[in-house]
Amino acid sequence: MYDLIEKKRNGQHLSTEEINYIVQGYVKNRIPDYQVSAFLMAVYFRGMSFQEMADLTSAIAASGDRLDLSSIPGIKVDKHSSGGVGDKTTLVLAPLVASVGLPVAKMSGRALGYTGGTIDKLESIPGFKTEIPYKDFVDQVRKVGVAVVAQTGHLAPADKKLYALRDVTATVDSIPLIASSIMSKKLAAGADAILLDVKTGSGAFLKEIDESLELARAMVKIGSKHNVRTVAIVTNMDQPLGYAVGNALEVKEAIAVLRNSKQPGDLRELCLALGSQMLILAGRTKDTSQARALLEEALDSGAALEKFTQWVAAQGGDARIVDDDTLLPCASRIEEVTSPQDGFVHSIAAREVGRAALLLGAGRETKNSRIDPAVGIVMRRKAGDHVRQGETLALIHANQKNMAEAKEILLNSYTISNKKPPTQPLLYYLVQDDIVIPL
Ligand code: URA
Repeated sequence: MYDLIEKKRNGQHLSTEEINYIVQGYVKNRIPDYQVSAFLMAVYFRGMSFQEMADLTSAIAASGDRLDLSSIPGIKVDKHSSGGVGDKTTLVLAPLVASVGLPVAKMSGRALGYTGGTIDKLESIPGFKTEIPYKDFVDQVRKVGVAVVAQTGHLAPADKKLYALRDVTATVDSIPLIASSIMSKKLAAGADAILLDVKTGSGAFLKEIDESLELARAMVKIGSKHNVRTVAIVTNMDQPLGYAVGNALEVKEAIAVLRNSKQPGDLRELCLALGSQMLILAGRTKDTSQARALLEEALDSGAALEKFTQWVAAQGGDARIVDDDTLLPCASRIEEVTSPQDGFVHSIAAREVGRAALLLGAGRETKNSRIDPAVGIVMRRKAGDHVRQGETLALIHANQKNMAEAKEILLNSYTISNKKPPTQPLLYYLVQDDIVIPL
């Protein structure tokens, strides 16, 4: 291991065998944390060749089970977000594409740090089970068309160990390490095609658009190398997605988007854009306008909301939440954050909003922290909106913890200016094969 750390530190390339040696040795506890930490830091500074990234992805994917979804008829398209604040896309997208006949068999993660996790959001629905036996998971997709469960410890266990180490050694935001971490899990999860939502901006792991594009290109290429068609969209994470940040609050917002099909907004737009690419990847439609029309029809007709209801019931959740959101956990206190001046919201620092939500208890500070499903933030104003002094910028839903701190962070996350800022794009690039298409 000493020689391999030195080789990477000196900027040389590691062979397939050498990368396998490191990953297997680490999972089997033959190589200690301190040596792997040094290796990760060497990768952080020296980067990896494409071949090394592909090898690292294969080694991590091979460290555990590989799911076999072949008994589910149809093309299974998995979707993955690189992580953001207020990103409840899966809650809308999964039932939406399932309602037009795409099977959704998805494994998702939990929140860590200031980014939320789909599984925690789903678990805020009373009764909703996210750990179900594999056979029941597959049966549910066959019967209902959609199932989303917690990623098991047997899927890419090397990633779990490596991610935990990266988290405490300042090596999370490295393109080869993120690319291999995400793609190893996606490849092990057994889908026929993969759609990646690569976030960029203040609330994303990678803040610069060029870096996010590089990550998107690397992951698309890794997918192709493993014979799994992969497409990526680089999307804006400078301000939180949608209006709500916090588990039950995000479930409410997802239901609102599924119900009120005409409600405009970035969340609905993103779901339509991602959903269209999923339909194209599955061979259901040829182009985005056809796909979009199909998805809008599913929202208008109520089919997507109906699919959401069936999905919640199938996983043991109380489906009455769809019509009565008071059945979701509610916080004991709701307080306003008001604008100190007249003007336009110039920006909202997504990461800071995530940090405020974390302090309230909506996220996990450490792996074992308990989440409070009721707490969080609902923004009333987003970038570009006009606000008068004293009007509400956002509402804070809190129980016992940190109302005052969260209020202060949230207020500071808003920048108000006299001039209306230019509208920020929601979608930046589509990456497929070796082509980058500006959107
Ligand atoms: N999400 C992952 O699964 N892994 C990373 O390294 C970053 C985001």
